[in-house]
Amino acid sequence: MRKPILAANWKMNKTVRDAVALVSAMKDGLLAISGVEKVLCPPFMAIPDVARLVSGTEIGVGAQDMYWKESGAFTGEVSPLMIKEFCSHVIIGHSERREHFGEADETVNLKIKAAFAHGLTPIVCVGETLELRKEGRTEKWVSGQVVAALQGLSADQVADLVIAYEPIWAIGTGLAATVQEAERVCSHVVRRTVAELFGEGTADSIRIQYGGSVKPANARELMAQANIDGALVGGASLRAADFLEIVRLTAETKGLD
Ligand code: PGA
Repeated sequence: MRKPILAANWKMNKTVRDAVALVSAMKDGLLAISGVEKVLCPPFMAIPDVARLVSGTEIGVGAQDMYWKESGAFTGEVSPLMIKEFCSHVIIGHSERREHFGEADETVNLKIKAAFAHGLTPIVCVGETLELRKEGRTEKWVSGQVVAALQGLSADQVADLVIAYEPIWAIGTGLAATVQEAERVCSHVVRRTVAELFGEGTADSIRIQYGGSVKPANARELMAQANIDGALVGGASLRAADFLEIVRLTAETKGLD
């Protein structure tokens, strides 16, 4: 049985003070919900404070990106060595990185390898634009992103990572994919591609999140899908009550709480 994983992607929101207040507002509630893995991904500046607040608990902390080199003349970048001082997870290849900051399949692959080399669990994002979807290219595009991301990894590594399927047109728009469509892509595209590359056992182990306008109102239905093992939550994770409710509904729907 795959343990569901909920990750809060705060993106470029919350000062350190705001982040501390948000964690303080949700920490006890999160710890009261069992059976579900929870990861908070604050902006870099807030990571040390958030990590200190949840240290010694089962709440994980993740970075929203990282560079693949350990150190050197790379102005503005953050290395895996720095991240692993505080974090257990790292989001890699988010569509906003791909769209605004030149993230490419090759750099996603390098970053995933660096994450494993430093004991971090990558949360790898894939997903199609509305244009690709309208052209009927969703399957090819998403499976291509999965193939490129996983190149050169071992089956054991792949079994341990998390893939977030996030249709770009559903991110931050309030317009989530239909549950049937989210389940179809997670199962028939993402998990199937992993099965073709690494075998059924690995495909059975890998956890696939859905992301894109997940909120309390749609979490139950999404999390009831057999191939959706959690969510990467943006906007709704900025409100303690909403994120807690999504985590609670996931545990309840998956029969864990
Ligand atoms: P959203 O963002 O929940 O605000 O749509 C999800 C994401 O980008 O990870």
